[in-house]
Amino acid sequence: MNEEMIPCQDLIEDSNTSNNVHFQTVLDNHMSRRGFIAKTGSGALALAFAASAVGCSDDSDNSSNTGTTPGKPEDPKGDQHAWSDLKSRPAEFKFKPVKKNTQNYFSVPEGYQLNVLYAVGDPINTAYSEKTDHAMQSGASYQFRSGDNHDGMSFFGMHSTGLKYSAKESKQGLLVLNHEYIEQSNLHQPEGTISKGGIRPEDQVLREVNAHGVSVIEVQKNEKTQEIKINLNSPFNRRITAATEMEIRGPARGSDLVKTFFSPDGTLTRGTFANCGNGYTPWGTYLTAEENWSGYFTRNAGDQRSDKEQASLARYGRGSSKKGQYLWDTPLAELTGERDLYDRWNISAIGANALEDYRNAMNTCGFIVEIDPFSVSGRPVKRTALGRFAHEDCRCSNPIEGQPLAFYMGDDATGEYIYKFVTDAVWDSKDINGGYAAGDKYMDKGTLYVAKFNDDGTGEWLELSHGKNGLDNSNTAYAFENQADVAINARLAADDRGATKMDRPEWVAVNPENGEIYVTLTNNANRGRSYPTDAANPRSYIDFKSGSPGNSGNMNGHIIRFRENKDTVTAAEFTWDIFLFGAEAHADANINLSGLDNYNDFSSPDGMWFDPRGVLWIQTDDGQYTDETNCMMLAALPGSVGDGGKVTAASTKANGQETIAGAKLSNTRVRRFLTGPSGCEITGVTMTPDYKAIFVNVQHPDGVWPANQSNRYSLLGKIPRSATVVITRKDGGAIAGEALETAKA
Ligand code: FEO
Ligand code: CA
Ligand code: CA
Repeated sequence: MNEEMIPCQDLIEDSNTSNNVHFQTVLDNHMSRRGFIAKTGSGALALAFAASAVGCSDDSDNSSNTGTTPGKPEDPKGDQHAWSDLKSRPAEFKFKPVKKNTQNYFSVPEGYQLNVLYAVGDPINTAYSEKTDHAMQSGASYQFRSGDNHDGMSFFGMHSTGLKYSAKESKQGLLVLNHEYIEQSNLHQPEGTISKGGIRPEDQVLREVNAHGVSVIEVQKNEKTQEIKINLNSPFNRRITAATEMEIRGPARGSDLVKTFFSPDGTLTRGTFANCGNGYTPWGTYLTAEENWSGYFTRNAGDQRSDKEQASLARYGRGSSKKGQYLWDTPLAELTGERDLYDRWNISAIGANALEDYRNAMNTCGFIVEIDPFSVSGRPVKRTALGRFAHEDCRCSNPIEGQPLAFYMGDDATGEYIYKFVTDAVWDSKDINGGYAAGDKYMDKGTLYVAKFNDDGTGEWLELSHGKNGLDNSNTAYAFENQADVAINARLAADDRGATKMDRPEWVAVNPENGEIYVTLTNNANRGRSYPTDAANPRSYIDFKSGSPGNSGNMNGHIIRFRENKDTVTAAEFTWDIFLFGAEAHADANINLSGLDNYNDFSSPDGMWFDPRGVLWIQTDDGQYTDETNCMMLAALPGSVGDGGKVTAASTKANGQETIAGAKLSNTRVRRFLTGPSGCEITGVTMTPDYKAIFVNVQHPDGVWPANQSNRYSLLGKIPRSATVVITRKDGGAIAGEALETAKA
């Protein structure tokens, strides 16, 4: 998200100093097991809330994950993960580029059509009514409605008979997407946001908690019309919310640092929220990234903590007392009778020890969370081995049989770092459809690294392992007790190793052709001042907005890319260059270093994904160029690291800052594919494997969108809604593909 547009969100901390019957069965099991019926009274609200509180998890240890999970592997041969499909990549783009504009609707290229598929409040099964502007839907009902501020997203093709993942299936699949945060006042219309004497009504907090997290919805394609619809009768449709029960696995499992009143043995926690970007695994599960989570917690004035705890809290955004941004710790629990559901949002040391309060609650947030969309009963898993920070995104290396996998990740806050996790286990394609058990195999044991970029175009991976390189309990800055302590305090470990402070690392993409890793660095208004320029973060300049001098720094962001030495994910070194610099087309040449023109200029890259053909999709979350254009999505056909050369960037340094830029690409190879409605951020992109439908998410549009671009939503009201849209070609061809293109640039 962009900090200018979302003032309510405490983000960008700068601390570097149904099937209804089926579902009912699941719920009933939980209800009887946990005694929620007795505690919550009766009626649909209590029922739905119970679902929210305990999620769709099963009480059994999910590591074996048998339960009712459909579609375990049969013969993976013939159904290999379609990781790359380079023969389908176009040589250049021929769709007509979309012009910059500030209209209150989406613009797509000529010959393309857009349908609004799934907007905040939409029911995910037939038991719930449509959300309209004129009636309140209960907070509890949001356990069965779309959450808000759609973000990272992946399509998982589903086998027509086996109800399992099938990488090449386009007719039906599970669309899994994040709901990053909420548009609070819109969400509670027509009632409006209520806080009386600092106490929030429980129904509103339920609505807010449930509007966070992740959606799993089954989508189906009509083969004749190519129309894509949600199957409201699918047993897979479900919501994972900020209250769903989750497993803690990896080094932090059972650590004293994650023990709470809820989970005295430190193996469970509740909820995923602030889910920004995403990833997916070669075995067919979804990864959601927990980004701006610290602002949700209240810390009381006078909260006394040990020096170590204080150091950790300060490095993760709660070094001093502060109220949680939505006051989720305040409801009186008159509906549910469960005060503990709200106490957990206060991290103060109130009890005699950590087992009596939630002082450790923040240590259970900030992870990559694995969700098996094909498992309706398994608990989502927090994969703590991948470190704890403001996770923006997580992308897996191209899987190679018999070799380890790497997961690349960005920590999105000013001056934060880029990380990789290398698995101990080597890839075995028989694990496709292995669900959480495969996740346990690959994601719980491995080595975490953080990146250091040298000015000469080389880089190093600095290992973050307990007992190595001073990361032990003799460390004077922070005494690391064990690997749980290193993973939970990954930022402190990375500080100690001397990682490079980056211009807000956002999404990561892995080129299916050559394994190169791309990272969006969205912007940094402090670059050139508190963060001196370096070759990897080279620009500091004054940006002009509406003719007036704006802020100075790296105002438009850039995309860095790197290649592992010898193309092996275990490499300790890499080479890098800067693939693209965001800039206005008319900016000076030492700012517009990529030579962008009116067909492809952009600002503040954020979402990003290589489709399996090797087309790179770039999305923007901008507040700097919005006087001239709404946020957008571009398509690119990149070369490779080292295809350009040295350039000198505008910097606060007297002679500029030398850096290494990728080859300039013409607008036939970087081109604007769409613009979103005014006020929005475009974030989240995935496709059906036949490349004929592309799904895109839009956050916080303003005006009346989507009522002005959709017959269905025009009947429901005019309050703007975040949504998933699906774009297809009128001639049924491949998106941005070569064949059947008639429109000329
Ligand atoms: Fe949620 Fe860093 O964007
Ligand atoms: Ca952003
Ligand atoms: Ca983002």
